[in-house]
Amino acid sequence: MRQPLIAGNWKMNGTRSSAESLIQGVLEGSSGIAKAEIAVCVPFVFLELAQRLLSGRSIRLGAQNVCTEASGAYTGETSAEMLNEFGCRYVICGHSERREYYGETDAIVAKKLAMVASTGMTPILCVGETLEQREQGFMEAVIAGQIDAIIEANGIESFGQVAIAYEPVWAIGTGKTATPEQAQEVHAFIRRRVAAHDAAIAEKVRILYGGSMKPSNAAELLAMPDIDGGLIGGASLVAEDFLAICQAGETAV
Ligand code: 13P
Repeated sequence: MRQPLIAGNWKMNGTRSSAESLIQGVLEGSSGIAKAEIAVCVPFVFLELAQRLLSGRSIRLGAQNVCTEASGAYTGETSAEMLNEFGCRYVICGHSERREYYGETDAIVAKKLAMVASTGMTPILCVGETLEQREQGFMEAVIAGQIDAIIEANGIESFGQVAIAYEPVWAIGTGKTATPEQAQEVHAFIRRRVAAHDAAIAEKVRILYGGSMKPSNAAELLAMPDIDGGLIGGASLVAEDFLAICQAGETAV
């Protein structure tokens, strides 16, 4: 049985005060949620605030990026050890926005995953195809390539400490959601890809869906057998919406 994980990806949004009220709102509304795991992946500069607010509570803290290197002359970067010190449990790696706008390749993403795992935190590996790739019939090849690159670089055992997020690029921030059947098909494909190397790890690995997940579609997505949670962008910025999705995760168990 895989515990659902509902993780908010705030991206580059918020102010100190809005971050504080959002976390307070999520804390207040989540007391009845015990079966689903909840996480908020906040911008680096809000980590200390979030760590303080979440201290002693069950909501996990996450970051959205990490440096490939452990320490040293890498101006502007943040190490896995620093994130770990600030109480992060999760680190999003290889989000399509980072792949597209910051040139992150599969090789870079693999190094980030290894860094995160080396500190005991859990990376959330994002994969997903563009609309063009889907329309040209390359969806499976793209996803397989993204997964296989990590297996080749870090070994299949590394998937023992990873969550995967399937985020079709065409569904991110567009209001267009993959249908539950479309998402399930890709999630099952990802699980089979991992299972070809290690069936036990494939059975355990959590595969989250991300891309315009919202209160109105969360329950039907989370009801699918291979959808083990959500990585939520826009809807995670409104406590009430995020909590409704968390509640859907709770009910899906
Ligand atoms: P939206 O939920 O805003 O579509 O973003 C999804 C996402 O990119 C989460 O990482």
